[in-house]
This record gives sequence, structure tokens and C-alpha cells, in this order.
Amino acid sequence: MTMTMTEIDRTLRELRLSGIGATLETRIVQAQASQQPFIETFSLVLQDELDRRRSRLMDRRYKKSGLDERATLNDFDWRFNPKLPRAACFELHTLKFVGDGANALIIGKPGTGKSHVAKAVTYQATLQGYDVLYLEADSAFAKYSLSKPEEQNKIMRSLLEPDLLVLDDLFLARRIADASAELLQSVVHQRYKLRRSIVVTSNRVVQDWGKYLGDNTMSGTILDRLMHRSVLLEFEGKSYRLKEATARLARDGTVD
Ligand SMILES: Nc1ncnc2c1ncn2[C@@H]1O[C@H](COP(=O)(O)OP(=O)(O)O)[C@@H](O)[C@H]1O
Ligand SMILES: [Mg+2]
Repeated sequence: MTMTMTEIDRTLRELRLSGIGATLETRIVQAQASQQPFIETFSLVLQDELDRRRSRLMDRRYKKSGLDERATLNDFDWRFNPKLPRAACFELHTLKFVGDGANALIIGKPGTGKSHVAKAVTYQATLQGYDVLYLEADSAFAKYSLSKPEEQNKIMRSLLEPDLLVLDDLFLARRIADASAELLQSVVHQRYKLRRSIVVTSNRVVQDWGKYLGDNTMSGTILDRLMHRSVLLEFEGKSYRLKEATARLARDGTVD
């Protein structure tokens, strides 16, 4: 017996086929208008469901990633700082390193686009179906130091599980708390064993990291594992933030 549209809607909801539900009326009209074979209509209807599921999955992955913007390399101006390692950035963006369980360190001057590139790589990873976690390092570590033990265990697990972990602006505040340094050591160590990638960005040269960690043996083991199977991208140049602020000042006399 033929179902009414209401019954069809209800059944699609019951079967969790909201992608079909969303476009069905259009597909019915389309089929009538073009008198296409059933198999063609059916393929379109299935594709609608697939499309919706994929985009929902991507949305969910993006929300879980901790990113605050969908950065891309398309809107990056490579002429502004011609010394940036452009080829290495695009290589990173292919995400081959995630498959290999390798790491990347993006080190250099403030405002040169380190976070932008790291976010673009992270966003690309969500599009390619990887589980990723982007964190501003200092606030994540501060949160960890202030948490109760069971909460700390949860945070630790959340740092180990993703295929790619991005620690943005490590050592922004120079010295980090002992608990944070231990967390960093443990995360680097365990992800190294699991062959899961880490991307770190920092304004601080690697040679000084020992000072900020407060314990040189520990910084040695952290660096050992971060640097083994890793690429180093050095960002030399002038600050894009300053350029934007100067342009704003010239335009309307305000800085924010
Ligand atoms: N070459 C560039 N082209 C376009 N935008 C840039 C460029 N470099 C930096 N930016 C922008 O300037 C701002 C600061 O860059 P950011 O990536 O946060 O720098 P960093 O992390 O190195 O301090 C961001 O809004 C970023 O998108
Ligand atoms: Mg930054």
C-alpha cells in the first residue's frame, strides 16, 4: 500500500534517514518532470543521505577539534614574508606526516603566521577524516594544573586519543608549572610510542626550551622524542598583526 507523505516522513525519521527526508519532495518533483528511470532517482536519493551524513560528520569533527576558525592556506599571502618555508607548509598540509606518525615544530617570530598555518593544517585534517585536537598550550596546561586528579586523567586521555594533537604557542608565558611540564613529557612520550603526531608552534627557539621547562633532563627527553621523526619549520619575518594594525590606524585612527 502506498504511504502518504506524512507516513513517509515519519518512517524516514524512524530509520534515521534525515538526508532523504530533507530533499525527497524535490526529488519526487524532479523525477516526475524528467521522467527519469527509477534507478537514477534512487541513486540521487541515496547520495543525498550520504552527503548529509558526511557533512554532519565533518561538522562534528570540526566542533570536537577545538578550532575557533576554519583557516586555510588559500587566504595566506606568501609575498608578505618571502622567507617562510612555503613548500614545507604545503607538504605539511598534505598530512602525510600524520599517516607516518611524524611531528612538526613551527618556530619563529610573532605574527608571522605560525598559528594560521597550524590551524589550516588542523582544519584540513578534520576534512580528511582525522580526529584532531587543537589547543592553546598555555591555557590547556593551566587548566590541567588546576584540575582534580580524576579530571586530570580525563584531560590526559583526551590528549592521547586524537590522530593529531596541535599545541599552539607553547611557552608563551615562558616558565610552565611543574605539573604542566610533567603532562607535556608524558603526552610527548606516549604519543611517540603510539606513533601519533604532534604539531607545536612557539615563539621560543628550541635551544631555550630547557629553561622554560625548569628541568633539563626532562626537556632533553621531551625534545628527543619530539625531534625524532619530525620537521622543523622556521618562520622568519615581520608581523602581519603589525601590518594590519598600521593599516587600521592609517584608515580610521584606531587600534584594537
Ligand atoms: N602571510 C600572511 N598572509 C595573510 N595573513 C597572515 C599572514 N601572516 C599572518 N597572517 C594573519 O595575521 C594574524 C597573526 O598571525 P598568526 O598566525 O596568529 O601569527 P603567529 O602565530 O606566528 O604569532 C592572523 O590573523 C593571521 O591569519
Ligand atoms: Mg600564534
